[in-house]
Amino acid sequence: MLITFEGPDGSGKTTQLTLLSEYLNRQGYSLFHVREPGGTSIGEQVRNVLHDMANQEMNPRAEVLLFSASRAQLIAQAILPALKDGKLVLCDRFYDSTFAYQGYGHGLALEALRQITQFATDGLRPDLTIYIEISPEEGLRRRRQDKDAEWNRLDDLPTDFHRRVHEGYRHLIAAEPDRWVVIDGERDIEAVQTDVRAAVMARLTQS
Ligand code: TYD
Repeated sequence: MLITFEGPDGSGKTTQLTLLSEYLNRQGYSLFHVREPGGTSIGEQVRNVLHDMANQEMNPRAEVLLFSASRAQLIAQAILPALKDGKLVLCDRFYDSTFAYQGYGHGLALEALRQITQFATDGLRPDLTIYIEISPEEGLRRRRQDKDAEWNRLDDLPTDFHRRVHEGYRHLIAAEPDRWVVIDGERDIEAVQTDVRAAVMARLTQS
């Protein structure tokens, strides 16, 4: 099973995913935990290009192809073999981020993104997607406050961009409500984690 995690920057999804992994490990699940962009040696190199503050001139079309290249490599080299081994794969961001950020955020045509995504993923789809909901303002506020967080090129985009990303996620969720579970991320870490675990365990015990 493939479970993906989505949310605006600063939603705390990575913290939640780490806590969830520890919990599932204790429960005896055989896990494989990756992040996008990155997760492979080639993908991590692509990630550095995408995040580098020096790359201000990056064109959104180039950006989407780089994210997709990292994803294609991750799926072929890591996700498909792990799924074949019967592992539970947890992925920090997946193609929904491309629709939210490059589609709704930058305004690239959604139909083109669908074709690129189909090519990059060869049709692989998440079984469940957890969305950690947080307002774009609160997300940016947290990122600015967190001195340990890496401030990357995408964080640096204007608040309006992050508002469109947020709106974009709402459209994606409305289009496929059965795949998504929305969790209120503007609460303390433990309360959010309780809901994350409940959503994942409900899906795992259903199949
Ligand atoms: P990262 O530091 O991993 O942020 P987060 O912890 O919020 O996931 O940076 C990933 C950034 O890349 C984030 O701003 C979202 C963005 N992104 C896209 O714009 N498109 C994509 O397809 C993906 C996977 C990520």
